[in-house]
Amino acid sequence: MMQREVDLVVLSKSDPSSDWHTRYILDAARSQGLSAELYDPRDLSIVAGPSGKPTLVHLSGYELLPRAIFNRALGDPTEELLVAAEVRGIPTINRFVPSYLATNKIMSLMLFMSQGLRVPMTLFSRPGERVGGSRGLTIFTRHILDLPVITKPLKGSLGISVERQDDLDDLRRYIDHRLGADLPLHVQEYLDHGGSDIRVTTVGDRCVGAVRRVARPGSIATNLGRGGRPVPLDITPELEEVALTAARAVDLDFAGIDLIEDNEGYIVLEANACPNFDNTVLVGEFPVGEGLINFIKGAIRATGRR
Ligand SMILES: Nc1ncnc2c1ncn2[C@@H]1O[C@H](COP(=O)(O)OP(=O)(O)O)[C@@H](O)[C@H]1O
Ligand SMILES: [Mg+2]
Repeated sequence: MMQREVDLVVLSKSDPSSDWHTRYILDAARSQGLSAELYDPRDLSIVAGPSGKPTLVHLSGYELLPRAIFNRALGDPTEELLVAAEVRGIPTINRFVPSYLATNKIMSLMLFMSQGLRVPMTLFSRPGERVGGSRGLTIFTRHILDLPVITKPLKGSLGISVERQDDLDDLRRYIDHRLGADLPLHVQEYLDHGGSDIRVTTVGDRCVGAVRRVARPGSIATNLGRGGRPVPLDITPELEEVALTAARAVDLDFAGIDLIEDNEGYIVLEANACPNFDNTVLVGEFPVGEGLINFIKGAIRATGRR
């Protein structure tokens, strides 16, 4: 079979003309001397067999030999490709298990706790657990948390479906809806962030950018898709320490750490395994691409392939 060698393969399902991030990473790689190509993960498959190493094959009939992989397409179509790359010893950002752990918000909160980080008080329950249906769970929630509370999906992003619940009946309806749809529940202490939170971008053991995200008046969500506005933010040693500890807790090489600040310091909300960082670059003026490509080059060098 024909073989195609590429320094950096970027996996993405979106067309670069409509995706700033894909374009930015390809440009950053090329301007730092790497060959870089975009692949839709749905065009690639895996051949496993007795050879000892899985092969990545493109539907056009050639074997793809990346020196490194950057994944911009979290989820089903890439999971096996990431594992195949790792088994082959190809540096992969991010690797599958860290991405999986980070994407699951309750698993990642527990890993943050294990590193001494502060996390919001959170109740998690799966449908089928014998904790007494929506009435029991609502009462149970009230024993642990005071109203208002935050409800959010187990694996969401972009602030989608993150809501403040001020009313016990509304909370009960939410729990009913989740149990009815056979979905896990996530109910969290409401933290008064005063209208803004913080996003820190990390690469390896460095913070490469930070922005404060200011919510629209009356909204808790600071996510840019929900009307949040980014403003540049300095990286202090304390902020850096918390963000890097959070990234390491879930073992992400490239992460977007979301934090809320209070009088005692920082509370970690989540680690994003496939973070957007356009505003960190465009508004914060942080050279994320340079940090990322330097890290990738270092990882390639460490494999001895370059
Ligand atoms: N416990 C909380 N209390 C107050 N605001 C919160 C809480 N959790 C999340 N938020 C806010 O909701 C938005 C989404 O939060 P996040 O947990 O990062 O989910 P997502 O993955 O959707 O970004 C952010 O603006 C964040 O500041
Ligand atoms: Mg977030």
